[in-house]
Amino acid sequence: MFENLEILQFPDERLRRLSVSVEVFNKELKALADKMLEIMYQSNGIGLAAPQVNQTIRLIVVDVSEDRNNPCIFVNPKIKQPSGSVDSSEGCLSVPEIRTTIKRYENITLEYQDLNGVRLEESLDDLLSICVQHEIDHLDGKLFIDYVPDVKLQRLRKKIAKSKKNQPTIEGTTVRVV
Ligand code: NI
Repeated sequence: MFENLEILQFPDERLRRLSVSVEVFNKELKALADKMLEIMYQSNGIGLAAPQVNQTIRLIVVDVSEDRNNPCIFVNPKIKQPSGSVDSSEGCLSVPEIRTTIKRYENITLEYQDLNGVRLEESLDDLLSICVQHEIDHLDGKLFIDYVPDVKLQRLRKKIAKSKKNQPTIEGTTVRVV
């Protein structure tokens, strides 16, 4: 199950689909979450959303800890009471080699379910808040580059096209990507 998952890359239109709520909390869901964490750690990302691996359900995994030992799994995550504003320098596993600064809410309250379907609520700040906002955008078919003005985006798109044409993928990047 889920052995051959790959991360979809911009401009793949499948990244633009709206993901549906998880209704069934079964072994398959847990297996997918485990596999997503594995892919996230292998890719040196701090977050991954199910639609990035072509599974259009509302499931995200995140680990913003320095030691990479605090995996968090959020099912059907919903942002409540967003407040404040921060500059967030972001990258994305689905938009390789592009990094840009956008605005995010500073603090959010997150309503979500765990893998057993239990409803929980948590106040998030700092990197965890930003990362969760980025991943929830993926569930709605939205990418961080959508926040970038068109002119700048064209430049970024050209840069992607050029780097795909001329260069092999850069390995071993230390950039925090979500
Ligand atoms: Ni992303």
